[in-house]
Amino acid sequence: MKQPIGVFDSGVGGLSVWREIAALLPNENIIYFADNANCPYGPKSQKEVIELSEAIVKFFISKNVKLIVVACNTATAAAIDYLRANYELPFVGMEPAVKPAAILTKTKCVGILATAGTLGGKLFKATTERYASDIKVVKQVGTGLVELVENGNQYSKKAEELLEKYVLPMIKKGADHIVLGCTHYPFFRPLVDRIAGEGVTIIDPAPAIARRVNDILEDQQLNALDNDAPKYHFYSSGASSTMKTLLEDVLHVDTSKVVLEENVAL
Ligand code: DGL
Repeated sequence: MKQPIGVFDSGVGGLSVWREIAALLPNENIIYFADNANCPYGPKSQKEVIELSEAIVKFFISKNVKLIVVACNTATAAAIDYLRANYELPFVGMEPAVKPAAILTKTKCVGILATAGTLGGKLFKATTERYASDIKVVKQVGTGLVELVENGNQYSKKAEELLEKYVLPMIKKGADHIVLGCTHYPFFRPLVDRIAGEGVTIIDPAPAIARRVNDILEDQQLNALDNDAPKYHFYSSGASSTMKTLLEDVLHVDTSKVVLEENVAL
């Protein structure tokens, strides 16, 4: 049960999911893979995203993982059906959190900020039809936002400008809940909270994903019951400087106690 959990994203965004898993499941060893050499995934074709995701899955299997978290909405939309059909281990993907937003909205209008790949995918369409058929769903592609986080510029003037451009029109159309449908976007908080203002609730699906991981591990009796010092390993296919800064400054991880490996070729 000490086998690690594998968590991956096109870059550092999935760290917003990693932190929830590490907090909820402090006994688990976790391997994180940031495919930042190929980031962003959002504008890529489904075929390309499947190929990139599969290479990471094979890498994780070579590291003997027991469960894989696709901590990327875009890769989930493009590849999770393929991965589940071709690999036996359990996968947890990012659900666009339309359901909680649709349940909680008072204005009957919710906003979803995500990549083009996520908003154009059949998972988003099915989730919206299932849970939000009587709700107005305002979709917004967050062009340029992933790159800002990847370059460590999530609190820049440019970030503020783009977020105002994307968030304010959704609120103008009546949205009282805004779903962060890309795992990079939680790193824009508190900027998003300030721009959205008090009457608007921002939904980050990451805590629900961590609970799902816990449920599967418990069901399959795969959870690590004790572990004095969980091992955290962070790989990236490109440079790891942004990841190191985010881990230290935002996630408050002591990077002298974890392993960071960069320019890992798959
Ligand atoms: N974090 C990824 C997601 O959740 C970013 C996608 C991209 O690389 O464009 O969709």
